[in-house]
Amino acid sequence: MLEAKLEELRRATLAAFTDAFSLEELEESRIEALGRKGTLAQITKDFGKLPPEERSRLGKLLNSVKQDLEGEYERKKLQFEQADLAERLSKEWIDVTLPAPNPRPGNLHPVTQLQGEIEDLFTSLGFAVLYGPEVETEEHNFDALNIPATHPARDMQDTFWLGDGLLLRTHTSPVQVRGMRELRPPLRMIAPGRVFRNEEVDASHEHTFYQVEGMMIDRDVSVANLIYFMKTLLSDIFKREVTVRLRPGYFPFVEPGFELDIRCLICNGDGCPVCKHSGWVELLPCGLVHPNVLRLSGIDPDEWGGFAFGLGLTRLAMMRYGIDDIRQLQGGDLRFLCQF
Ligand code: DAH
Repeated sequence: MLEAKLEELRRATLAAFTDAFSLEELEESRIEALGRKGTLAQITKDFGKLPPEERSRLGKLLNSVKQDLEGEYERKKLQFEQADLAERLSKEWIDVTLPAPNPRPGNLHPVTQLQGEIEDLFTSLGFAVLYGPEVETEEHNFDALNIPATHPARDMQDTFWLGDGLLLRTHTSPVQVRGMRELRPPLRMIAPGRVFRNEEVDASHEHTFYQVEGMMIDRDVSVANLIYFMKTLLSDIFKREVTVRLRPGYFPFVEPGFELDIRCLICNGDGCPVCKHSGWVELLPCGLVHPNVLRLSGIDPDEWGGFAFGLGLTRLAMMRYGIDDIRQLQGGDLRFLCQF
C-alpha cells in the first residue's frame, strides 16, 4: 500500500515538475509533495507503526523518492533561473559606447579665452610668448628688476615666501628677466600667467590672479611705440573705442613709468565696486625699461632701450564680461562659468 503511494507520488510529482511553466508553479508542486505538511510527510506519518524489516525496506524507497524529487526540482529550478537571467541580460543590455544623453559641452574659462586672444594678437605682431615658473627666485622677482632688498618697493607687494630664496611670483615681470637673458635683443615678448599675493580677498582682490607681461627691446624704442601697442591691444580686446588716460606711475623697473587707466566699462564712469567708485580702472602699468634692469640682464643701455607693460588680465576679463566680483572667477561654480 505505502509502496504504491510512494511510487505514485514520485510519478505525479515528476510530471508536475515537468509541466511547471514558472518558478512559482515549480515551487508550489514541491511544497505539495515535499513540504512539511505535504504528501510525503502524510505517507511517512505511520512509518513508526510498521514492523522493522518493512520499515527499513520502505525507508530506502522513501529516500530514493525524496532524492529523485529533490534532484529534479533543483535541476528544473536552475533552468528557470538561467532563463530568467538570460532574459534580463537581453532586456537590460546597455551600449556603453553610446553618447550620454544631453552631454553638456565644456568651455574655456573666461580668463583663458582672453589670454588666448591676447597671445594670438601679440604673436601676429611678432612677439614671442613665454611662460615663466610660478615658483620664482627672489633674484628674478625682485633684484633683477631693480628692486633691491632694502628698497621700499619690496613692501609694495605682499609676498608668499617659500624659503631658500624662493617665492610665489608676485607679478609676471620676472619673465622679462628670463626673456632678456634667453632671447637677447632685439626682442619682443609677452608672458601671460598666474601670480600670487598675500591679499585679503574681497570683490576686487584675490590672492591668485592673472597678468600678461609685455616687453619690447630694440634700438630706438620710445613712448610713442608703447602707446601704439597699448592702443592696438585695447581696441582689439574690447572691439570698440575705450577712453584711456595716462598718469605718471612709479615702478622701480621703468623710467619714466605710467599708469594707463581706462574708463570703467561696467558703470561707464558712474562709479561701481570694480572701479572703487572712481569711474576709472587701473589696467595697464607700463613704462620705458630702466637702464639698471637692462644692465642686470647683461644688456647695454647705451645701445638698447625698450618698453614694458604689465596687464591685469583678470581685471580685463572682468571689464570685458561685466563681472563685478573677482571671487566668482575661481569659485568653481559651473552655473557661472558656463555663461562664457
Ligand atoms: N609688475 C607690476 C605689478 O604687478 C606691473 C608692471 C608695471 C609691469 C609696470 C610692467 C611695468 O612691466 O612696466 O604691479
